[in-house]
Amino acid sequence: MATWLSPCARFLLLLLLSQQKFPSHASDTLTANQRLSGNQKMISQDGNFALGFFQPAVVAEGSNSKWYIGIWYNKIPGQTIVWVANRAKPVSDPVSSGLIISDDGNLVILRNHSESPTWSTNIKNNKAANSTVAILLNTGNLVVRHGPNTSVVLWQSFDDITDTWLPGNKLSRNKKTGVVKQMTSWKDQGDPTPGMFSIGLDPKGSTQYIILWNNSVVYWASGNWTGNSFSGVPELSPTNSYPISGYTFQFVDNDEETYFTYNVKSDPQIFTRAIIDISGLFQTFVWIEATQAWVTFFTQPKTKCSVYGTCGENSMCSENAASSCSCLKGFVESYPNNWVLNDHTSGCRRMVPLKCANNSSMNKQDKLYLIDNVRLPDNAHIINAANVHDCELICLSNCSCTAYSHNGTCLIWHDHLMNLQDSTGGSDRIFIRLAASEIPNSGTKKWWIIGIIIGGFIILSLGITVVYFLHKRSRISSINQVDGTLISFKYSDLQFITRNFSARLGTGSFGSVFKGVLPDTTTVAVKKLEGFHQGEKQFRAEVSTIGNIHHMNLIRLLGFCSKGAEKLLVYEYMPNGSLDKHLFDSGSITLSWRIKYQIAVGIAKGLAYLHEECRDCIIHCDIKPQNILLDASFVPKVADFGLAKLLGRDFSRVLTSMRGTVGYLAPEWISGAAITTKADVFSYGMMLFEIISGKRNLEHTETNMEAFFPVLVARKLLEGEVQILFGTELNNGVSVEEIERACKVACWCVQDSESSRPTMGKIVKILEGLVDIEVPPVPRYLNVLAEGSNNVEFSSYEQLSE
Ligand SMILES: *[C@@H]1O[C@H](CO)[C@@H](O)[C@H](O)[C@H]1NC(C)=O
Ligand SMILES: *[C@@H]1O[C@H](CO)[C@@H](O)[C@H](O)[C@H]1NC(C)=O
Ligand SMILES: *[C@@H]1O[C@H](CO)[C@@H](O)[C@H](O)[C@H]1NC(C)=O
Ligand SMILES: *[C@@H]1O[C@H](CO)[C@@H](O)[C@H](O)[C@H]1NC(C)=O
Ligand SMILES: *[C@@H]1O[C@H](CO)[C@@H](O)[C@H](O)[C@H]1NC(C)=O
Ligand SMILES: *[C@@H]1O[C@H](CO)[C@@H](O)[C@H](O)[C@H]1NC(C)=O
Ligand SMILES: *[C@@H]1O[C@H](CO)[C@@H](O)[C@H](O)[C@H]1NC(C)=O
Ligand SMILES: *[C@@H]1O[C@H](CO)[C@@H](O)[C@H](O)[C@H]1NC(C)=O
Ligand SMILES: *[C@@H]1O[C@H](CO)[C@@H](O)[C@H](O)[C@H]1NC(C)=O
Repeated sequence: MATWLSPCARFLLLLLLSQQKFPSHASDTLTANQRLSGNQKMISQDGNFALGFFQPAVVAEGSNSKWYIGIWYNKIPGQTIVWVANRAKPVSDPVSSGLIISDDGNLVILRNHSESPTWSTNIKNNKAANSTVAILLNTGNLVVRHGPNTSVVLWQSFDDITDTWLPGNKLSRNKKTGVVKQMTSWKDQGDPTPGMFSIGLDPKGSTQYIILWNNSVVYWASGNWTGNSFSGVPELSPTNSYPISGYTFQFVDNDEETYFTYNVKSDPQIFTRAIIDISGLFQTFVWIEATQAWVTFFTQPKTKCSVYGTCGENSMCSENAASSCSCLKGFVESYPNNWVLNDHTSGCRRMVPLKCANNSSMNKQDKLYLIDNVRLPDNAHIINAANVHDCELICLSNCSCTAYSHNGTCLIWHDHLMNLQDSTGGSDRIFIRLAASEIPNSGTKKWWIIGIIIGGFIILSLGITVVYFLHKRSRISSINQVDGTLISFKYSDLQFITRNFSARLGTGSFGSVFKGVLPDTTTVAVKKLEGFHQGEKQFRAEVSTIGNIHHMNLIRLLGFCSKGAEKLLVYEYMPNGSLDKHLFDSGSITLSWRIKYQIAVGIAKGLAYLHEECRDCIIHCDIKPQNILLDASFVPKVADFGLAKLLGRDFSRVLTSMRGTVGYLAPEWISGAAITTKADVFSYGMMLFEIISGKRNLEHTETNMEAFFPVLVARKLLEGEVQILFGTELNNGVSVEEIERACKVACWCVQDSESSRPTMGKIVKILEGLVDIEVPPVPRYLNVLAEGSNNVEFSSYEQLSE
């Protein structure tokens, strides 16, 4: 670190130039007539922290002349930097540069004898510039104040926080000014310039911390403060001082500010710090004297690929690999120097440009290559395409299309691919578009394929052997793959992963659901079925059918367990819970119209797949908002399909067992007529009304039957003025055209006669605006319900919905 020191000449220069000398014995205070430069240090009174010029421990080639003023632990070997003054403005020479108190009472860095500061504390109107001092406190906080008067802090490094949160500092939001104190990551290991990731309190005013990518995309939130902890991180609470005794936490929400702060006992001395690191993880460390190392004890998000854009564009994230990011075939690192220093956020660039930019009509020049077993990138556009071939053509015929994926639904991507993850994140397939020259021609391709198949075989058998032995040793000893996709769990395994069924996510018509975490850290939802009376063979057959159904709008079955009468199903876990929560609970975020519409379209697609595209047509029988789950980006997934059949529900008894959900049941459930897929269409229609209004249909009826929303909509549609029902909402980016279309669809769905109701496939087309729709008649059955209570059908309805 002291390479500049050796030449005597420089040392002499230093002595000559620094008329205002910083005392040679280390002090904690810099006064108005002193200059700190070269290898001089300020040291806090207790000797724990030091301040001075430093160079990052890891430096990119060619940038070894970048020096920064920073604070580090004085007693810990290997300079751990906790604060940097001139983050983005290094100086090239610490000897000719210096830290001083300027004439106007600011702490400034002057570069190479120049007069204008390269960095300043920017204190305005400092009335006593002459008596201003800078003091490095025992907390690691650098404070600028007037002489010995400690009551006025003009500036402090705790307010100018960089990437490190030290004990005692408040990560706050000022309620008067709205200013949020935000930690921002270093760009890479050798560059303290602000990077892509930051953490701070939610600027919108809630009591949760959020981590942001590029100050725009939230990829982690702590959950609100519950009085004892943050709802999403219950392990971090004042009453739970794990793993270090002597931790204290405090959350304060007063008229002036909201903040969280933590502290540690200073005796015996504990060094601890929290950082937002260069790959976007929030981590807390404690220094372990015995091993002379920083040990992480808390990391969020839990997995590195959950960090938005951590690998930048056109690259692949992997949880397992030593190097978590790699460029896709046909792409190279945009800035290889950053990659070397573990900053991948700049991503990868295409090596050979796509040819289509020139001639988009006939695209013989570009080809697509398949990557299997991935989690798909963000920001897919859902396109209407009949089949895979169409999907491919649509992609190739549009110059901005860079990739597509078809899995029941055609998804295409424009421009950059962000957040693509390998098999550690999902099992979808994606086709990436490359210039033809990047892909070997078909002759060699055949050999490639044969090679891949043979190689795959060898790897697979090796893998199976390894997995077999690993599993034999691991706690979960006998997870069997069935049909290559479904996992057969042991009951004790599920007990283990759900912590003996302790975290209940909810209770549905078919049993309770519990949260669990697989050994590979995948979160799952485990459903304990109730009332299963069929044989083992039928159970396995039905489960296998359900397990073979894959669609982006249907919840995925991952595995099952059958132990005597205990039958359990293991599903993918949906972080955003069920739709009813978002529609009806006042506490949750209000969904925008755009998202609600996407949800309506998604559900319709899922149901269309169940009704029309599966080998055996499946009637869901229990469509309601509770059975629609939302993933992290609010893509809807229909849950519980196939269960009515699996559980052999006697359709005549279904009404009593589905108490409370009767509001979604078609009249044929009551009349006793045969149940077809159109019963689901009816339920979908009733639910669509709720999606549109954001209120329960039955809620409207409690106060005023005349206002029964579905009937009201039907009548207004006939009068051609359905917009009236949405008055002020129409100003909030709600499309009148979409509202009208959704209302019409909902009304057609709830017609008495099954033949009048459209199929789910048609509903998708209508909602996507591909097919026009007429004004529906007022549905008779619902109209009768709304008209009065002296009607048989109505009273039976009312009884059921008590
Ligand atoms: C510093 O300034 C001097 C003249 O003032 C100049 O000769 C020298 O090159 C400068 N050094 C750097 C590193 O900019
Ligand atoms: C500060 O010091 C300068 C010169 O050292 C002097 O001219 C000035 O009057 C002083 N100001 C105060 C407020 O002491
Ligand atoms: C410190 O500053 C405050 C505010 O300016 C003032 O009220 C107080 O008297 C000062 N204390 C001393 C010891 O100078
Ligand atoms: C947190 O609280 C705010 C209101 O302060 C609320 O809008 C938001 O939905 C809450 N978030 C969660 C996750 O509960
Ligand atoms: C980050 O945000 C800024 C503006 O807020 C934008 O100009 C820039 O392109 C964004 N960076 C990336 C990689 O998207
Ligand atoms: C398109 O291709 C032609 C020849 O193939 C070439 O002359 C022309 O410059 C290209 N145009 C663009 C915009 O790349
Ligand atoms: C595009 O390519 C096709 C066939 O390769 C050719 O017939 C057509 O003229 C080209 N169009 C342009 C604008 O170059
Ligand atoms: C290609 O896709 C973009 C983005 O969706 C769209 O704006 C554009 O119109 C499309 N171009 C063609 C030729 O379809
Ligand atoms: C659809 O995606 C799932 C994974 O999400 C995959 O297992 C299944 O094979 C895919 N189906 C088709 C037809 O590609």
